Amino acid sequence: MSDWTDTIDALIDYLRFQQENGTRDAPFSPDILKRLGVIAPAPVAAVPLPAALPQPVALPPLAADRRPSTADHRPPTPPPPLPSKSPADRRAALERIAEQAAACSRCPLAGTRTRVVPGQGNPNSPEILFIGEAPGQDEDAQGLAFVGKAGKLLTQMIEAMGFSRDEIFIANICKCRPPDNRPPSPEEMQACIPFLQAQIAVINPKVIVTLGATAAKGLLNAQTAISKLRGHWTLYGDIPLMPTFHPAYLLRFPPAKHDAWSDLKSVLKRLDRPVPQQNKNPTVT
Ligand code: URA
Repeated sequence: MSDWTDTIDALIDYLRFQQENGTRDAPFSPDILKRLGVIAPAPVAAVPLPAALPQPVALPPLAADRRPSTADHRPPTPPPPLPSKSPADRRAALERIAEQAAACSRCPLAGTRTRVVPGQGNPNSPEILFIGEAPGQDEDAQGLAFVGKAGKLLTQMIEAMGFSRDEIFIANICKCRPPDNRPPSPEEMQACIPFLQAQIAVINPKVIVTLGATAAKGLLNAQTAISKLRGHWTLYGDIPLMPTFHPAYLLRFPPAKHDAWSDLKSVLKRLDRPVPQQNKNPTVT
C-alpha cells in the first residue's frame, strides 16, 4: 500500500471513529470537498414490504423477562412474532425471506454485491439475536454474516458469554455489502430493514443486541450517539434490546472492550445466565 492510500485509510478510520461516537459533521473546506468530488447520492424511493413476507400473527403471552424496561425512545412498531413455532416452519420462513433478499434490487447495493448475506444461526427463539451493520468483503464473498476479522472478535464475545455461534442468531441491518465498506445510506437501510423485521418476527429472540451505531439507528430510529445509547436497555416491540459497540470499532479502539463486556454481562444477567469472571476472557475484556 502506498503512503497515500495509508493516509486515506487512516482518515476513513478516524471519521468512522468520530461517527461511532456521535459526531455528525466534519470541517472540510469547500476546496477539499471539490477535490474529493463529494456528490449527494441519488435518493432511493421507499419500497413497501414484499407481499410474500411472512404475515405477522400473535404468539403466546410474553415471557417474564419481556417486561417493559427503561426505554428511552420508541422504535417503529415491529411486526409481531409468527404464530408457528415449529423449527421446520421457522427455517422455511427464513429461507423464504433469504430468497426474497437474494432477488432484491430495491437499492443500488444490488448492483455491487457478490452475495446477499441474510444472516445465520439458531432460528428457534434463541437467547440472543446479534445485529450488525452490513456485510464486509469476507461476508460478501461467503454469503455469511460476521466471518471476517470483526466476526472473529464477535465469536470470542459470544463464546465468552458461554454460547456458541450455533446457539444464537447473527444478522445485519443491510443484507448487501456497501462498496469500500462504507456505512449504508439511510435509503439503503430503509430499503433493507423489512427483511430484518420479518426475520425478527420469525426468530422471536429473547434479547436483541445491536452492534454499533448503524444497527441501533436502523432498528430504533435513534439519533443518539452509540456512546450514550450503549449499556442502556430499551425495547424493540416487546423484545429487550441492548445496544453495544461494533466489534470492528473494538478492534480499532480496544479500551472500549471494557464497556462492551459490561453490556454483554448485563445481557447475561437479563437472561438469568451465569456471568463469567472478567479475567477469564482477556480477548474480549
Ligand atoms: N460487519 C458487520 O456489521 N456485519 C458483518 O456481517 C460483518 C462485518
